[in-house]
Amino acid sequence: MSQARRTRANTRAHRNGKAPRKGALKAAKTLSREQVTERPAERSLVISIPRLFLYHRGLEDALRAGDKVLTSQELAARIGRGMSSTQIRKDLSYLGSFGRRGQGYDVAVLVKKLACVLGLDRDWRIAIVGFGNLGHALGTFLELREEKFHIAAIFDSDPQLVGTTWHGVTIRDETELEALLPELGCGIGIIAVPASVAQRIADRLVRAGVGALLNFAPVNLSVDAGVAVRTIDLASELSLLTHHLS
Ligand code: NAI
Repeated sequence: MSQARRTRANTRAHRNGKAPRKGALKAAKTLSREQVTERPAERSLVISIPRLFLYHRGLEDALRAGDKVLTSQELAARIGRGMSSTQIRKDLSYLGSFGRRGQGYDVAVLVKKLACVLGLDRDWRIAIVGFGNLGHALGTFLELREEKFHIAAIFDSDPQLVGTTWHGVTIRDETELEALLPELGCGIGIIAVPASVAQRIADRLVRAGVGALLNFAPVNLSVDAGVAVRTIDLASELSLLTHHLS
């Protein structure tokens, strides 16, 4: 097989870290804040992915604490943040039947179901591009605190960083991105480079087979429709608070 064909085949096989499950791929493609699902019947329903994530986290905590069954009120209290038990019951009813009226939800079953819907039932390999202050902090958080996410590749342009090793990962020169990334099976790319180069890095990550981008550079990225992008903007989040205080 030619190098070009092998690279293309690897890119397809590794696009999401492992052979993708149908459902997970769909979820990754629809990482909008609100996920809208059409039902054959006339109604459409809206489920908030961030809310499902909070339920999953709350239920995992409960499982660790030894809780086998949890009512929606107990889950709401565990999550906090003004979460209502009515909202929880409504959201979870869209995913199937997991509890008995008055008795609560089977925690283990629900954790499994939510993990599957959120694509958290398997490990994800992540590439970070830009390993300065932010990239380093994000990498450290993910590697040490989030067991589902593994930093499998790091790229930077700084000769002082390139060639050094971080938690067993060798930091590579950004010029090697297209050559190395398809072999490393990273489904998600984190962009933590200066804004001026962020679009170019995004294009290259996508060309190398990455299907989802978490962008921290203050720039709106333009990518193919099949690629999921989330841009995190700390200043915009803070402005919600400054607005509240004003
Ligand atoms: P930094 O200067 O500490 O790190 C940037 C890194 O990118 C450096 O290691 C640099 O060598 C590398 N780099 C530059 N050009 C590159 C290229 N073409 N390919 C690969 N690596 C390259 O900056 P910091 O503070 O880590 O910020 C990184 C980005 O994140 C900036 O765009 C900044 O505006 C943004 N940022 C966003 C925040 C948010 O809330 N979304 C918060 C803090 C920073």
